[in-house]
Amino acid sequence: MTRATAVAHPNIALVKYWGKADRELNLPATGSLSLTLGIFPTTTTVELTEEATDQVILDGATLSGEESARVRAVLDLVRERAGTGAHARVTSTNTVPTAAGLASSAAAFAALAKASSVAYGLSLSDAELSRLARRGSGSACRSIFGGLARWNQGTSDETSVAEPLEWKGEDLAMVVAVISSARKKIGSRAGMNHTVETSPYFEGWVRSNAALVERASRAVAEADFTSLGEIAEMSALRMHASMLGAEPPVRYLTGKSFAIFDAVQALREEGLEAYASADAGPNVKILCRSREAALVTQSLRERIEDVKMHVANAGPGAYLLDEGE
Ligand code: PMV
Repeated sequence: MTRATAVAHPNIALVKYWGKADRELNLPATGSLSLTLGIFPTTTTVELTEEATDQVILDGATLSGEESARVRAVLDLVRERAGTGAHARVTSTNTVPTAAGLASSAAAFAALAKASSVAYGLSLSDAELSRLARRGSGSACRSIFGGLARWNQGTSDETSVAEPLEWKGEDLAMVVAVISSARKKIGSRAGMNHTVETSPYFEGWVRSNAALVERASRAVAEADFTSLGEIAEMSALRMHASMLGAEPPVRYLTGKSFAIFDAVQALREEGLEAYASADAGPNVKILCRSREAALVTQSLRERIEDVKMHVANAGPGAYLLDEGE
């Protein structure tokens, strides 16, 4: 096959990834744990061409510079493995606002790993796809899997890989509260490298977050939603605390983000269990039970003005589209 199309969904970390142990291989400073969402898919087609270079088209626009270099770096790994130098045209369509802390890169690189490996004739296992996606964007290794996934920190390219986790509790949902879909000023890569280099809190973050990965894994095994939610909110806030300690500080959260954290806490005090999280942007993602997601959304709408909300249930792992579709 010289052409393949794959679909992948974003994932939101319940225990965050922030900071690399190895920048070349994208090995993280700690493990992390996430939920793949059932909304905002990215669809990517990879087609081998006779051209002298790769071409990368995202939402109709040809990419250049750093963004296309990251895509080409993943294609180079696939080419090396497939034993060919053939170039490719990559055409990708996002349904999520790009680069707004809504994990568009996770879906994009998971879809790219799947589509490119098939287009170049490789037949990779999910673990191998996860490793490949990781090289494009760390968090993408988790979007190879549906539902809950744990990215094991590892110490090498082979061992730093995500795996699916079984959840036997009530169905999970995330309410995505979009405050802004503007492009973020500091990308996650620059933001985390700067935190590693300058934040006196980074060490504390690494130590505490490594422990949270273990606690969250236990909560998943025990189907303990309350513990999982409490850990998720804590990991998000500790990640932001590590960035706030950088020099100059990295600050993604706005007053409105905190207003949503406050509202989520108020819901809990009223007996509606929900837990807030946020990534490299101001938007807030709220973990709740699927059957209560509509109520959480409505209650937040009553408290916060001008916020667009999307409800996501757990979504599937990366999959290939039948080209006939
Ligand atoms: O994979 P990256 O480089 O886009 O970094 C993701 C960082 C966070 O979204 C903030 C946290 C995470 O674990 O997804």
